Amino acid sequence: MKAVQISSYGENEVLEIKENASQPSLKKGQILVENYAASINAIDWKLRAGYLQKMTSVSLPITLGGDFAGKVSQVGEGVSEFKIGDEVYGQAIILNGGSGSIAEFLAANSTNSALKPKTVSFEEAAALPLAGVSALQALEEHIKLKNGQKILIHGGAGGVGSLAIQLAKSIGAYIVTTVKTQDMGFVKNLGADEAIDYKTQKFEEHLKEVDAVFDTVGGEVTDRSFPVLKKGGVIVSMLGQPNQELAQRYEVIAIGQGTQTDTTHLNHLAKLVDSGKIKAQVDKVFYLEQTREAFKYQEEIHPKGKVVIKIKE
Ligand SMILES: NC(=O)c1ccc[n+]([C@@H]2O[C@H](COP(=O)([O-])OP(=O)(O)OC[C@H]3O[C@@H](n4cnc5c(N)ncnc54)[C@H](OP(=O)(O)O)[C@@H]3O)[C@@H](O)[C@H]2O)c1
Repeated sequence: MKAVQISSYGENEVLEIKENASQPSLKKGQILVENYAASINAIDWKLRAGYLQKMTSVSLPITLGGDFAGKVSQVGEGVSEFKIGDEVYGQAIILNGGSGSIAEFLAANSTNSALKPKTVSFEEAAALPLAGVSALQALEEHIKLKNGQKILIHGGAGGVGSLAIQLAKSIGAYIVTTVKTQDMGFVKNLGADEAIDYKTQKFEEHLKEVDAVFDTVGGEVTDRSFPVLKKGGVIVSMLGQPNQELAQRYEVIAIGQGTQTDTTHLNHLAKLVDSGKIKAQVDKVFYLEQTREAFKYQEEIHPKGKVVIKIKE
């Protein structure tokens, strides 16, 4: 089968398009998926670059990619929730025990898979798992966002941010988001009430007393967000544990989120999609053979929403 693998860490030159990679074998609790589409997340290029070596013990070569959408072609021992032919989506990154999703076939833990949303294509479904679950876990479970509340979403044009804006809108929140100049129109169309151009303005000079901050950018942006929150407000960061001293000083709750792409969250995400509340924003679709270009687009140009790899027609 075709698969995109790496045998060493580095820039995009290390990506190898293998024509005859071996089909993954199933471990207990896994399904084999004939893959129709994958999408790229920041973690995929961080893994390729070798940034995650200290946190993980994978041995190369590996197949890259995590998000997938396809059809079940084999069911492993101990799996009763899926049958051959089911249309599924989920996460099969090597770091969670999957076999990697930029490949014609993949092994995924059944616990990281779910029936795909019925109303969208495989490409749109593949754009959803990690970004969509990140948005819903942050807004619904950590922030518990309510109708009428004001939320600041950093990085509103990204994969996670573009879904978070739509979810916040469906809840009835007032949304302020930070983006670069070229992305202002994109986020307004998704439902943002205000967009702040982070290249020319300081968000903290325009905002105060917000109920929540959802931070998909990290670094100094996280620290600069504390003063805009009201007392008792919540900040959730996708990039590690926020500074707890600042949380105490400003009397807010600060959470570092580790997204759980499990079946329960994926089922809930599929319902949000099928009810029309959120829609994956697919900026560009590449073929498997173009994965280097796709990674370059993701890392250097930055899509509005998501980059998808189409694997099967
Ligand atoms: N903890 C977890 O479990 C978990 C799960 C999923 C994702 N993540 C992390 O969350 C982050 C976001 O993920 P993603 O998939 O949404 O990434 P993404 O698609 O690259 O989106 C990030 C967005 O932020 C924008 N940006 C950069 N600097 C900014 C700034 N100072 N202010 C406002 N926007 C800025 C980027 O565009 P421009 O630079 O072009 O403006 C881009 O649109 C990644 O670092 C990812 O690794 C963590």
